[in-house]
Amino acid sequence: MAQTRFSGVATSRPFQSKTTSRRGAELYCGQLRLSTLAAEYGTPLYVYSADHILDRLELFQRALAGREHLLCYAVKANSALALLRLLAEHGAGFDIVSGGELERVRAAAPEALSRVVFSGAGKTAEEMDLALEAEILSFQVESEAELALLAQRAARMRRKARFSLRVNPDVFAATHPYISTGLSEHKFGIPIAQARRIYGEATGRAVRKQRWLEAYGVSVHIGSQIRSAEPFGAAMARVARLVRELERDGISLRSVDAGGGLGIDYEDAAGFDPAAAAHAYLYAMEQALDGLNVRLVLEPGRFLVAQSGALLTRVLYVKKNGRKTFVITDAGMNDLIRPALYQAWHEIVAVQPRTGRAITADVVGPVCESGDFFARDRRLSPVEPGDLMAILDAGAYGMAQSSNYNSRPRPAELLVQGREARLIRRRETMAELFAPEMEQVAVLSDPLKSMKK
Ligand code: LLP
Repeated sequence: MAQTRFSGVATSRPFQSKTTSRRGAELYCGQLRLSTLAAEYGTPLYVYSADHILDRLELFQRALAGREHLLCYAVKANSALALLRLLAEHGAGFDIVSGGELERVRAAAPEALSRVVFSGAGKTAEEMDLALEAEILSFQVESEAELALLAQRAARMRRKARFSLRVNPDVFAATHPYISTGLSEHKFGIPIAQARRIYGEATGRAVRKQRWLEAYGVSVHIGSQIRSAEPFGAAMARVARLVRELERDGISLRSVDAGGGLGIDYEDAAGFDPAAAAHAYLYAMEQALDGLNVRLVLEPGRFLVAQSGALLTRVLYVKKNGRKTFVITDAGMNDLIRPALYQAWHEIVAVQPRTGRAITADVVGPVCESGDFFARDRRLSPVEPGDLMAILDAGAYGMAQSSNYNSRPRPAELLVQGREARLIRRRETMAELFAPEMEQVAVLSDPLKSMKK
């Protein structure tokens, strides 16, 4: 792959400040003012740029144009149906981890089911049946027991199950411990040293009951938010060695799935060059795979969608407790849990910044936990109640990890494309919060009686 293929056109974010003479500086998503969107749709509000997501997809597609490949977007990063539809229309496949995600792909883009790979260490028999029936591309199998169950379900349904063993390459990648997965101490995958034997057993002619299994590929995923290309290359080199060994054994795999994991720069968006990052990553992989005639499957999540999205929130109160200043917003940890869960850093900017002396404050939500914060001791332009703020780089693992904690309805979601903003998910209603309980009429008519049962 030529190092010069990338044109470097992709900007790191679609959210840019523009200055109009009447209003001063103001934050836009593409050509739309965020203040207008917030006024129309309310806050908290997730806003994504479709154009930006497609730019990122194209970055990968153009870089990989010279080799057989499939980009399987990791649905878990942001599973909005409208995003799945958008990506499917532009050729993407999907990496799913549950029956629920399978149903999302079916609802958004049924034609893309044949481009689905199914990951995850705990697939149930029911989920396998759903995926077999949908004739997905490949099951990424994480244990011998799972492979045995898959063989059984496939035989029962008389459907071919293409599988890839997810191997654990025992490679260290620097990232947050909760999202590092490629070491032997992690729960993921099959130790790479055992893979050759398992492929041999699963494809052996003697094993008649395995005839519904087809060894399709091999997969690996070493973790998420990895900023260096080096561990990806190291993992791929180990996988490539396995593929060659298997070839000598007479087993030729058709695909190598490198998983997801390519990170972004949350702290220095201006200095982040997505094209250079993608290039270094793909180049490391290409080098490791040199000479192998396999299809390269990738499962990017964050890199495609994180920077396309922002969480818009309105300031409710500004208060001082002792020496600390707290900016209390109408969004909380239930809407975006990354700072609370991984101590993640997200840039926060005023949508219509005020002039004056900068303040140092904690930006926190209304949820009753001290962990409910978006930023600590952050330098901000001065803020007042009613002001709008944008929490940036929230397109991945934001809405997807949201909850109803504190009985808070989930935010609405907007997709901006060109000059248009489309509501892709309306705000949840209060009634929806407890609808599953209201169906159990007994709960209200005689709560104690129903609990005793
Ligand atoms: N493939 C597999 C098998 C995965 O487990 C994951 C992510 C991906 C692909 C996509 O990885 P990405 O390209 O997005 O890094 N909630 C965390 C991230 C968890 C990632 C889990 N697995 C966060 O907010 O940082």
